Amino acid sequence: MTTSAAQPPVIAIDGPAASGKGTIAYNIATTLGYHYLDSGALYRVVALRALEHDVGAGDAAALATLALDVDVSFRAGRALLGGRSVGDALRTEAVSAAASRIAIHPAVRAALLARQRAFRTPPGLVAEGRDMGTVVFPDASLKVFLTATAEARAERRYKQLIDKGIPANIDGLLRDIRERDLRDSTRAAAPLVPAPDAVLLDTTDLTIAEVTDAVLALHCVRHDPA
Ligand code: CDP
Repeated sequence: MTTSAAQPPVIAIDGPAASGKGTIAYNIATTLGYHYLDSGALYRVVALRALEHDVGAGDAAALATLALDVDVSFRAGRALLGGRSVGDALRTEAVSAAASRIAIHPAVRAALLARQRAFRTPPGLVAEGRDMGTVVFPDASLKVFLTATAEARAERRYKQLIDKGIPANIDGLLRDIRERDLRDSTRAAAPLVPAPDAVLLDTTDLTIAEVTDAVLALHCVRHDPA
């Protein structure tokens, strides 16, 4: 699929939890001087607000209102909620699980759609999540779907947490990742599936640098095929 003439290019990077999307998408955006959208952070911010305000994960209407009204902004890729830095609060397993529960509601997804598309400004955007290539930016100039075994992803998340001094349990992380994979890929609204025109990359045995280089090479081929 080609980029429509009037729109800045989008590189869509989708994949399951801890597949490396965030780091890779941020590196690519920085290298190309593009904007960066961490769509998961939007779902996480709504989940954090819902937990703080005792809104149940099943209350689609109240969650959609929260999603429409939430005062979220980003500075250097880090989320701010009402001006307060919430980066670490967003990464707890409680918020991860709540985000995946609220993300099943079509009304919540619809409420976040315009917000996500507003990130598409010149010179271009690198957007990462679950449905960037399928729903939010179906005309993206490049779509990449990252995979890795659940074990490799649990190991990565474990290292991330330990490096930050946060206690973690590898078996618990693996269970959480499997639960979230199942919920994300079997939901009716915008399930986690590769777009038909996405390039699939298995990152199990690749470093972050190798994956970043592979995606940049794909981008160069699409952007400047000569
Ligand atoms: O970083 P990680 O892959 O663990 O999670 P994330 O990208 O921050 O997303 C957290 C949760 O939000 C996911 O488990 C999905 O349920 C949901 N999400 C979604 O439904 N659609 C997106 N575009 C991004 C995230």
